[in-house]
Amino acid sequence: MEAYYWDTQLEYLRRTRDLYYNDDYLEFLVTSVWKISKPIHIIDFGCGYGYLGLKLLPILPKGSKYTGIDKGQQLINKAKEYFHNLPYETEFFVADTNEIEMESKYDIAVCHAFLLHMSEPKRMLQRMIDSIVNDGKIICFEPHWISGMSSYELAGYEQSQIVPLGILQKLFEGSKNKTGNDGNIGAKVPIYLSELGVKNIECRVSDKVNFLHPDKNQQDKQKLFHSLKEDGVGGAPVDKAQFIENLIKRGISAKDALEQFEAELLFSQVFNMDSSLIYAPSMKITFGEIKK
Ligand SMILES: C[S@@+](CC[C@H](N)C(=O)[O-])C[C@H]1O[C@@H](n2cnc3c(N)ncnc32)[C@H](O)[C@@H]1O
Repeated sequence: MEAYYWDTQLEYLRRTRDLYYNDDYLEFLVTSVWKISKPIHIIDFGCGYGYLGLKLLPILPKGSKYTGIDKGQQLINKAKEYFHNLPYETEFFVADTNEIEMESKYDIAVCHAFLLHMSEPKRMLQRMIDSIVNDGKIICFEPHWISGMSSYELAGYEQSQIVPLGILQKLFEGSKNKTGNDGNIGAKVPIYLSELGVKNIECRVSDKVNFLHPDKNQQDKQKLFHSLKEDGVGGAPVDKAQFIENLIKRGISAKDALEQFEAELLFSQVFNMDSSLIYAPSMKITFGEIKK
């Protein structure tokens, strides 16, 4: 099981969320895809500082209510602070979603980048379903790492030089088999929901394609570059021997571990604020209806 560390990760969360969706796409989902036209009560599992609430409440019908649950006390404090002066009805709870009893009273249960941190994601999906009223909806925004990894382009380099997909595929699968935590969970949620009896399941992909390029204005360039770095793009591997040993422990060969090290090292050496880089995180957004 993954050790819990999120309560110190506010800065990472704040700096990276902008990489995923354009606001107009979220508005399109709310109004044209989910067709939410009446005020709803929404619950966000693993809400962090309330990112989804901050994005969704301005576009949900007036009178909608947002409940956020997270294990991190500091994250919840921050969420309360962010919403304090906003004109929305909200409530926040510090709780472990594996442990609390959920009442079946919410119109919509959502989560964002949450299930990948669960060692038993299907069990968590069942808990989310249990919290929803008849005819309500479940909506999961979750990563599909291998898809995100294949969506890089750095001008001047072959993609395989900086992101060796086959090795990453094995690493992600190895981690999932060892711990249960699945970075490709986004692509599995539709199947799990269907196994759990959810109806009318559909899956979409996040729309944002980040484009860093030298001609961007300095301020936007700086902001995007720092968000990308914070998200691990072009991060420098630190200790070679330790890096390789860790990857071998995660189930890949010494040759693949060395290739991965060299790819990450090259990426970190050549990626800078004046690089031309395309990156699409390619989150999967799965939703369906609850019929009880
Ligand atoms: C990657 S963060 C995503 C936060 C937020 N949804 C967002 O996208 O900004 C994962 C979140 O899940 C929360 N979390 C992890 N395990 C949890 C648990 N067992 N119960 C409640 N929250 C949990 C963490 O505290 C963290 O805020």
